[in-house]
Amino acid sequence: MCGIIGYIGKRQAAPIIFDGLKRLEYRGYDSAGMAIFDGSNGVQIKKDIGLVDDINKRLNFLSMQGNIGIGHTRWATHGGVTQTNAHPHISNNKKILVIHNGIVENYQELLTMLKENGFTFYSETDTEIIPNLIEFEMRKGKDFEHAAIDAIKQFDGYCAVLAMFEGERKIVAARNGSPLVVGVGNGENFIASDIPAFLEHTKNVIYIHDSDFVVLDSNRVKFFNLEDGKEVGRPLHSIDWDIEQAKKGNFDHFMMKEISEQVQTVKSAANQDKEILFEIADEMKKAKGVFLVACGSSYHACLTASYLFSKITKLHINVVLGSEFSNYENFLTPGTLVIAVSQSGETIDVLDAVKTARQKGSKVMSLVNVVGSSLHRNSDRALMLNAGPEICVLSTKTYTAQLTVLALLAYTIAGKYDEGKKNLEYLWNIIYNLTAANTRKYLMKLAEELKDKNHIFTIGRGLQFPTSLEAALKIKEVSYIHAEGFSGGELKHGTIALIEQGTPCIVFSSKENEKEIISNAMEIKARGGYIIGIDSKKNKDVFDFFIKVPDVGDLNPIIQIIPIQILSYQLAVLRGCDPDKPRNLAKSVTVK
Ligand code: M6R
Repeated sequence: MCGIIGYIGKRQAAPIIFDGLKRLEYRGYDSAGMAIFDGSNGVQIKKDIGLVDDINKRLNFLSMQGNIGIGHTRWATHGGVTQTNAHPHISNNKKILVIHNGIVENYQELLTMLKENGFTFYSETDTEIIPNLIEFEMRKGKDFEHAAIDAIKQFDGYCAVLAMFEGERKIVAARNGSPLVVGVGNGENFIASDIPAFLEHTKNVIYIHDSDFVVLDSNRVKFFNLEDGKEVGRPLHSIDWDIEQAKKGNFDHFMMKEISEQVQTVKSAANQDKEILFEIADEMKKAKGVFLVACGSSYHACLTASYLFSKITKLHINVVLGSEFSNYENFLTPGTLVIAVSQSGETIDVLDAVKTARQKGSKVMSLVNVVGSSLHRNSDRALMLNAGPEICVLSTKTYTAQLTVLALLAYTIAGKYDEGKKNLEYLWNIIYNLTAANTRKYLMKLAEELKDKNHIFTIGRGLQFPTSLEAALKIKEVSYIHAEGFSGGELKHGTIALIEQGTPCIVFSSKENEKEIISNAMEIKARGGYIIGIDSKKNKDVFDFFIKVPDVGDLNPIIQIIPIQILSYQLAVLRGCDPDKPRNLAKSVTVK
């Protein structure tokens, strides 16, 4: 969480940092700040609470002069959302500036030590420790670079840090567990939490590894190992993402743009590297136990896969939440295969699960969207989701991309790769229709009906049970309407007590389990529930509102979620919520 960006070169840094911060805002958006250095007039700092654009209107970030700069957009972990706690933070001597993503776990101990040495503190953040620790090391006679290395080595916890020193034309950085990538330009260099922050300026990137210490000036980027201080080589990669993919285009919000892109992204996800796909399929067949591990929507995709693998290949897999994975470590052996599924490849609970698996000697493979992410680099083999950058905090196109790849994997294991590809190709026209303007207009009528409701329930059976969980997550995280998803049979074991006259319930139905799910819908309707049916045909007696989605059998989860993604978006807009930046959330959850 938190977005960080640095620039050093010939151009004015402020507009570059400002645009970069806006592209990183999905990582955290409770406050933001920038520090710019012009090489002579001291460092200028501007920071405040709120969104980057709003702060700019008040403080005019763009008026800051200088061609070295750092910027930060915050998701608070340590200390409240206040102007004082916003980054950058400055040392006691007012010369060292730091921005930071992560947590300094031994904060208390370092704070006490620095206070004993005469340092004073103005904020409640753990970050303020860092510039002062660097100053403390410089007081011992070390230069900025060496003082920064020695300071960073002293703190525990996952982090990505950028620092600059008023007297020098350089930015230093370090990474331990939190994302950080260098963008290499011509006579200028960039460093940020994520590639879209500088994609407009360069597509040449160098991925920073854990325990790397990086020194950037306008013409060079040097990498050192934090532990022994030795210089290390890191390869340059050219990425094929396009800046247009990271812009809103004609859409008001990234969320709707990304929902619409699913026509293309399901296609790209199905277009997998065949060699890796077959290799992973083979490993799954051979493994003595397969675990799928993920969080949030990615977890729902894995749950869906557990049904798909059972139906298509008769292969049993265990699906575990990243944060619960350590409870299963006794079942891990060198024969176990762990497949981690993550859009960002930076979710800390998933990365920790991978670490646990590695300690037990298990193989680790992954499905991931962000090339060069920690998960991508820490996997024995990885299948890419090919969905392009997902900027909205909510997963939409990457969720269906995960389902697509997992379905293709199931078909491949069953020896039905060609059939799987053909079945997936059949979805493209359907997705086109489901995201078309007339469908959106039709769903808007439902959104108008539901916008003032306090609760929405969602139910499904079998393959559609995880779809109901994902639908509820989409609705609640973006519109703040309480929503809960259930297996069709479960509601009557307690929650049906909440059904009143007019309580909306979204029912995912299909030919396969129509009889049972429709009886569950009837039970709800009999108690006054308002039934929204997602099905291939209208059940007039039961559905109060009907959303027609063709029945595509095992692939139903890929298309049935789409109307609910659109509905969630519309509910957010009607209720005045920002669909791209829901409150309290951040796109990559890099803290535990
Ligand atoms: O990047 P990941 O796929 O690992 O992220 C997992 C979750 O944090 C993510 O799916 C989250 O639940 C989103 N808010 C869902 O819209």
